[in-house]
Amino acid sequence: MPARSAQTSPALAGKVTVPGDKSISHRALILGGVAVGRTEVTGLLEGDDVMHTAECMRRLGATVTRLGPGHWQVDGVGVGGLIEPADILDMGNSGTGARLLMGLVAGHPITAIFTGDASLNRRPMARVTDPLSRMGARFVGRAGGRLPLAVVGARAPMPIEYRLPVASAQVKSAILLAGLCAPGETTVIEPEPTRDHSERLLGHFGAEVRIVDSADGSRRVTLRGQPELVAAPVVVPGDPSSAAFPVVAALIVPGSDIVVENVGLNPLRAGLFDTLIEMGADITYLNRRVEGGEPVADLRVRHSALKGIDVPAARAPSMIDEYPILAVAAAFAEGKTRMNGLAELRVKESDRLAAVSAGLAANGVSHEAGPDFLVVHGGKVTGGGTVATHMDHRIAMSFLVMGLAAETPVTVDDDHMIDTSFPGFAPMMAGLGARIG
Ligand code: S3P
Repeated sequence: MPARSAQTSPALAGKVTVPGDKSISHRALILGGVAVGRTEVTGLLEGDDVMHTAECMRRLGATVTRLGPGHWQVDGVGVGGLIEPADILDMGNSGTGARLLMGLVAGHPITAIFTGDASLNRRPMARVTDPLSRMGARFVGRAGGRLPLAVVGARAPMPIEYRLPVASAQVKSAILLAGLCAPGETTVIEPEPTRDHSERLLGHFGAEVRIVDSADGSRRVTLRGQPELVAAPVVVPGDPSSAAFPVVAALIVPGSDIVVENVGLNPLRAGLFDTLIEMGADITYLNRRVEGGEPVADLRVRHSALKGIDVPAARAPSMIDEYPILAVAAAFAEGKTRMNGLAELRVKESDRLAAVSAGLAANGVSHEAGPDFLVVHGGKVTGGGTVATHMDHRIAMSFLVMGLAAETPVTVDDDHMIDTSFPGFAPMMAGLGARIG
C-alpha cells in the first residue's frame, strides 16, 4: 500500500488535460463490441477500470485493439453475437463495468461468472439482478446478490418496463443493454434523470431510443429491441469527474490560475461546477463546443474565496461522484455547506460518506455526517492527518488536494487505486506546481 502526502503548495499555474471520461469509455467498448463493423475510439481512458472492460469484451468475442495512446479499435460481433467466455470475467474495481456487462450478458444465451476486487465484491448487485431476472436471466451469487456471481443469460429475453428504485445510470444502462436482445420495447423510468451516455451512444450506433420527460421530473427512456447497431467513431471527452480535482485544487490554493482543457460538460454530469460557481468559484467556460455528441469546454479556474451553501438533494445525480472533492472545497469555504440526498455514497467504491467524514476528522475539519447528509463547517484546515482510502480512488485524490492548501501535510494511506480512473494524476498535478510526494 503506497502512502502519499500532499503539502502546502505555491500558486498553481498552467494548462492541463485530464484523461477520457470513464463512463463513456466503458460504453464505447461495450457498444462497439456488439455493433456490426469496426468502431474507432479516440480519447479512451486507459485506467484500470476500463482496461478490465476491454479484456472482458475480448473474452465475450469482440476484437479490441490498442492502436496508440487513447486510440482503440473494436470489431464488434453484432447484437446477440457474444460468445460464452472460457474463463471468469474479472471487473477489478469497477461497478460500472460489472453492472453494464451483467446487463449485456443477461440478454444473451450464455453463462458467465463475474468477480472483482475486495471493494467491488462488497457492493450491492441486487439492484441489477432484480430487473434482469424479470427479463429472463438467472443469477447465482452471494448474499445480497454480491459478486462473485454467475449470470445465466436469457434464451428468449423479455422486454420490461421498470421504474428504478434508486437513481442509477448503471442500473438503467444494464437494463437497456439487456433490452438490446429482447423483442419489442424496453422502458426504464427514472425518478430523477441520471447520466445519459448510454442513450446518446445507443442512438449514435443507430438504435431507436425515445426519451420523454414528465412534469414530475421523472424521465422515461424506451429502447426498441433487436436493432442492428452499426459501428461508428467515438470521441471521448475529458472526464469532468477527474477535472474536478485540479479545478478544486486551483480554487483553494491562493494565487492559482489554471486551465483544464477539453472537459465534458454533459448537463447530467456538471453539477459540481454549478455548485462551485454558486459558492463563489471563479470558473470560466472557454471555447464551448460539441465533440462526439457531448458538450465540451476548457475551464479557466482562479483561486476564489468560497462561501458555504446548501446543495439541493435533486442535484445529487449530476454530481454523485463529486461529493468527496466538494467536501474538500467546503472545508476551505467560509461558513457551512450542507449536502443532502447522499444515501448512494454509502455503496460506492467505499462507504464514501464514512470515508469523507473520517478524513475530515483526521484533518481537523468540523462537520456532521448523518445517514444521507453531510454538513461541513469551513475555514482553516489544519491537516496533519492520515486518511484511510478504503480502495477508493476518489477518496485518495480528494484528500491529496486538501493537503495542497492545508496548514500541515495530508497523507493518504494508499494511492494505487488512483490508476482506476486517473492514471498520471500525481505528475499532472505536479506539473501545475502541486507538492505531492
Ligand atoms: C456511472 C454511474 C454512477 C457513478 C459511477 C459511473 C456510470 O453510478 O457513480 O461512477 O458510468 O453509469 P450509479 O449508477 O451507481 O449511480
